[in-house]
Amino acid sequence: MHTQHQYDVLIIGSGAAGLTLALRLPARARIAVISKGPLREGNTWYAQGGISAVLDHKDSIESHIADTMDAGAGLCDPEAVRFTVEQGPEAVQWLIDLGVPFTRRDEAEHAKEFHLTREGGHQHRRVIHAADNTGQAVETSLVEAVRQRDNIDLLERHMAVDLITADRIGRKENHCLGAYVLDRGKHQVEVFRAKFTVLASGGASKVYLYTSNPDTSTGDGIAMAWRAGCRVANLEFNQFHPTCLYHPRAKSFLITEAVRGEGGKLLLPDGKPFMQRFDPRGELAPRDIVARAIDHEMKRHGYDHVLLDISHKPEAFIKKHFPTVHQRCLELGFDMAREPLPVVPAAHYTCGGVRTDLRGHSDLENLYVIGETACTGLHGANRMASNSLLECLVFATAAAADIGARLDTTSLPPELPEWDESQVTDSDEEVVVTHNWGELRRFMWDYVGIVRTDKRLQRARRRVELLQQEIEDYYGNFRVTNDLLELRNLVQVAELIIRSAQTRRESRGLHYTLDYPQTDTSQPPRDTILVPEKRRRGEPRRSTTGIMVERRNIVEQLG
Ligand code: FAD
Ligand code: SIN
Repeated sequence: MHTQHQYDVLIIGSGAAGLTLALRLPARARIAVISKGPLREGNTWYAQGGISAVLDHKDSIESHIADTMDAGAGLCDPEAVRFTVEQGPEAVQWLIDLGVPFTRRDEAEHAKEFHLTREGGHQHRRVIHAADNTGQAVETSLVEAVRQRDNIDLLERHMAVDLITADRIGRKENHCLGAYVLDRGKHQVEVFRAKFTVLASGGASKVYLYTSNPDTSTGDGIAMAWRAGCRVANLEFNQFHPTCLYHPRAKSFLITEAVRGEGGKLLLPDGKPFMQRFDPRGELAPRDIVARAIDHEMKRHGYDHVLLDISHKPEAFIKKHFPTVHQRCLELGFDMAREPLPVVPAAHYTCGGVRTDLRGHSDLENLYVIGETACTGLHGANRMASNSLLECLVFATAAAADIGARLDTTSLPPELPEWDESQVTDSDEEVVVTHNWGELRRFMWDYVGIVRTDKRLQRARRRVELLQQEIEDYYGNFRVTNDLLELRNLVQVAELIIRSAQTRRESRGLHYTLDYPQTDTSQPPRDTILVPEKRRRGEPRRSTTGIMVERRNIVEQLG
């Protein structure tokens, strides 16, 4: 029998969302932040461009709202957009106060002001950044701050396996009581009991063969929440970043959109520009439009990449604003100050996720979901550049306030059942995991990518269902490992993505299908909501604190 860990708040994930929440909670709360790898490893660390917020007197809240809604292709929740944008300046000020070294302006007379860059979809310069490695600067400051707090335990190499819900102890309530967590050092699964559990475990772009994301982005939070009975929303909207370096050793290294914001041009390999043919905003059109245009040109001509050229700018400017990209490209044999870079789109961001309200409430009482794992309604059918870190900060703050207000009136869960390993053995065929992992990511890329069809989705659906069965069998028989758990989660999220894509019979934002190439204007835009079987059995069940307000018409699919 292992000791059961107990905390007021268990936070699963140590990126911008999880760490902001930990820091924003009252200091009297006992908090555990767990991270399946090293603390800093997650999407946040790799963020380049910056954080969008209204910080310039010529800009306005209304303009940021309008741009976000426009990028979201009619599907953003206006309330979530306004809430996020209005909280933006305070969220950024909090980071400035924490000591994040944001870049200042070049000109001597404005040297005290922060430099604001531009990215796709933004009508104004409103992206505050730390050169081209904003994520690293933000994560470093957050980690330094949490390390100084006595009330926060930071547990690296601890991977959440599944949420523990009240039905595990024979109760009928719709509560989350904590999680089973694999201690990767001890190779054992332990019980973490908590008054509140928070999923801040990032996105799921590793479901695709080519992605800008690190290996951690395996959709664990989305899969765990789904298995526990939470609805998920809008998972068909997978964002492909238009410009990742095309190089066999670069692992889809991102070339920040700020390069285009500062004047970078997209060219065909013969040197001809092409973006104006697709959108009057050219290189600074929202990301779905640019990625689709590149994909179209590559397929039309049979090119394996296009070019991104900023070599007309002075070398000193490039080195100051893009030191990380410049250096990495040099290491790989390209000097962006002198020549164009070969680029291709790659999977970048999960716009959908676990459905939440403005305080991060999920469908389960005492389970909050924030950051890339959540679907708050902010991004609609396509996230605007640099709105993600903003969302992490704003929703982590809102969830912290909500949890803080309930901290003293919520009791700790009782002793919970141990993880049962009596029926399983060590795996004798790890190759099954590696093989299935590769197969999944390949067919998701081929059949559920930038351009979809009913036939391709159907093909993907058949394959994913087969893989799911195989992996569930494997999971039922063998002791869990990090790789097996990630694969189980990825395959679950892949199935939800495909199902969501099949449900949407129109093209909108990031979901583009040749079978329904137009946006359906005959009815109001609708979210795609999938409802797990577990929740359906218990309907109608509502969290008593998290009153979920339904947005517009929805398509509900039963799990
Ligand atoms: P993450 O930062 O991904 O953190 C997730 C954490 O959860 C990690 O610590 C991970 O280890 C942990 N975890 C996952 N599963 C488990 C589990 N089962 N158990 C325990 N721990 C777990 N957005 C912007 O707004 N501006 C940008 O400039 C920008 N640039 C980007 C550049 C790149 C290359 C990438 C990949 C993304 C970029 N984004 C940007 C998107 C943005 O970085 C992410 O959406 C955001 O950082 C997500 O933060 P998060 O806290 O939700 O998740
Ligand atoms: C980038 O720097 O291009 C990424 C910005 C984002 O994902 O918001």
